[in-house]
Amino acid sequence: MEVTVNNIPVQKAATSKIHDVDFDNLSFGSTFTDHMLVSDYVNGEWTPPKIVPYGPISLEPSSKIFHYGQSIFEGMKAYKDEQGGVYLFRPLENWKRLNRSAERLAIPELPESHFMDGLVALLQLEQDWVPQNPGSSLYVRPFMFASGTGFHASPADEYKFIIALAPSGAYFSGKVKVLIEEKYSRAANGGVGYAKAGGNYAGQFYPTQLAAEKGYQQVIWTDDNKHEFIEEAGAMNVFVRIDDTLITAPTNDRILDGITRKSILDIAADEGIDTEVRKISVKEVVEAAKNGSLREMFGAGTAAVVSPIAAFGYKGVDYELPELADSYASKLKQRITDIQYNRAEDKFGWRYKVI
Ligand code: PLP
Ligand code: COI
Repeated sequence: MEVTVNNIPVQKAATSKIHDVDFDNLSFGSTFTDHMLVSDYVNGEWTPPKIVPYGPISLEPSSKIFHYGQSIFEGMKAYKDEQGGVYLFRPLENWKRLNRSAERLAIPELPESHFMDGLVALLQLEQDWVPQNPGSSLYVRPFMFASGTGFHASPADEYKFIIALAPSGAYFSGKVKVLIEEKYSRAANGGVGYAKAGGNYAGQFYPTQLAAEKGYQQVIWTDDNKHEFIEEAGAMNVFVRIDDTLITAPTNDRILDGITRKSILDIAADEGIDTEVRKISVKEVVEAAKNGSLREMFGAGTAAVVSPIAAFGYKGVDYELPELADSYASKLKQRITDIQYNRAEDKFGWRYKVI
């Protein structure tokens, strides 16, 4: 008998791994649920998605993903409220951004129904995997890559779209110390920085390893031209509070248009906080740190949520940030997570009820 969920065919896993999972001690993105959603792009179209057991996939060595890196992804979370309701946060924004990334990497765009219907069906099936513990959620990883074969350096003719799920705790353990980058660049004008392309992350690993050797968890990327302006961090957009104004860099070719970033800007404005979207020079931040007007820095992203930055390093000097009792970071984190976990009214209409 064929089983379907939300009209998507399901091939059930023979056994569940859920009882092996310690939901009280979840790390980030390292345990995976029983099923995944798959759709293949063949003969010029995306096949109807299906749900299959989570497990290895088989690819030819000549698949273009291995040679030319056509690979993009998204990052979202599913949240559970106290009554067992399951919610997503602005999921259509992720679908739109996936397709912006797809266009830039010459990957065929995915229809909205494949993304949304597939996501909802998978979450309905895996709802017991959405953690209820404070600070935990089910991390949702939609991704797409070139499965088509050939050594010719041109776009593949076949692709795979998969959504995999990972019950997860916090992305960072402990305080976040960042290094403002002076040499390496994450992205360049006209490049793929604004896309959520796997290669953008691969290119960050080496400079981030060098920073980690010096005790920093993330690099703050600066413009590729003169390294004068702050852009974003490895896995999050960056906010700076100088006196009582909250500032973040404008998005451009080189910066990921973060969904958390734009939500934080709206919530901050709603809180009556002065916000500015403008270029922030490293010089301005260093001077503000020296004269005491730099009150806060924090990162914002799906995985990182709102992560206060405890200190930044620049040209061999570490600048500590003060610990504020009533920081913007804690206020904004509370408000955004209250919406995400259905603990508060959602005046913006961002919450998306799955169950
Ligand atoms: N910048 C980068 C490089 C990221 O990887 C992420 C994470 O997704 C973000 C910013 C934040 O984006 P979002 O808030 O949409 O998760
Ligand atoms: C996310 O926040 O969802 C991301 O994609 C960041 C990731 C590199 C962990």
